[in-house]
Amino acid sequence: MPKQSRKVRVPDLLKMKRSAQKITMLTAYDASMASIMDGAGIDILLVGDSLGMVVLGDDTTVGVTLDMMVHHCRAVARGVSRALVVADMPFLTYYSAADAIRNAGRLMQEGRAAAVKLEGGTASADVVRALTDAGIPVMGHLGLLPQQVHQLGGFRAVGRNHEEAEQLIADAHALESAGAFSLVLESIPAELARRVTSGVAIPTIGIGAGPHCDGQVLVSYDAFGLFQGSIPRFVKQYANLGAIMAEAARAYIEDVRGGAFPAVEHSVATGSTGVTAAE
Ligand code: KIV
Repeated sequence: MPKQSRKVRVPDLLKMKRSAQKITMLTAYDASMASIMDGAGIDILLVGDSLGMVVLGDDTTVGVTLDMMVHHCRAVARGVSRALVVADMPFLTYYSAADAIRNAGRLMQEGRAAAVKLEGGTASADVVRALTDAGIPVMGHLGLLPQQVHQLGGFRAVGRNHEEAEQLIADAHALESAGAFSLVLESIPAELARRVTSGVAIPTIGIGAGPHCDGQVLVSYDAFGLFQGSIPRFVKQYANLGAIMAEAARAYIEDVRGGAFPAVEHSVATGSTGVTAAE
């Protein structure tokens, strides 16, 4: 899609699906990286609860709290001028409609998100309806649901048998009917993602779900080589920033130990009014 400078809004995504323009989404957790990806023209920045794993070093997303999400979301929102900022609702923050409205409200009012994302299908439909009735745009999330990792017994693909596939299609329709404006499809077969994508009017955004979705999302720390743990097979690595940072850190250590840094130009000069920072 040609880079547009106008802010991306929720209804734009439906227009993009209708005109077969692929939607791009990456995760962001801080203002600096958000600003870089926003400047590159990304459509959606997701403040994902993958925060817990790739930034905070946990094994799962379960330990992420609402306060953490509000904090990081606010930082991302400060770095963005064009992309739509979507915030993940953490584990157990949307169990009842009343909790969901209060907690999503914090993500929007304090975190400055434009929309929220939550995991789950038919069982979450009433909550999605309550949120959308309250004016809160909701992105659904089907397939592998990382917040249910303990119940699932691990991170695994979903929808590979007939029963799971039919349930997922029913879930997609339930979320669409409840007012969700788009659906993330995670770790499902490409053919199932194709069926969902053609069966609903709202856009689907895939991660490990093949090429037929209306858009794609990746965890930025995985895609850019910052996360040092194991990454899913479906991730394409677009850069190895981890290696670049390690090289930069080694050069810095060598400079400091060898006395090459700081040089005169990095030192504070004495000015006429006293001590001032060097230009
Ligand atoms: O938390 C996250 O980063 C996500 C993506 C994997 C879609 O939910």
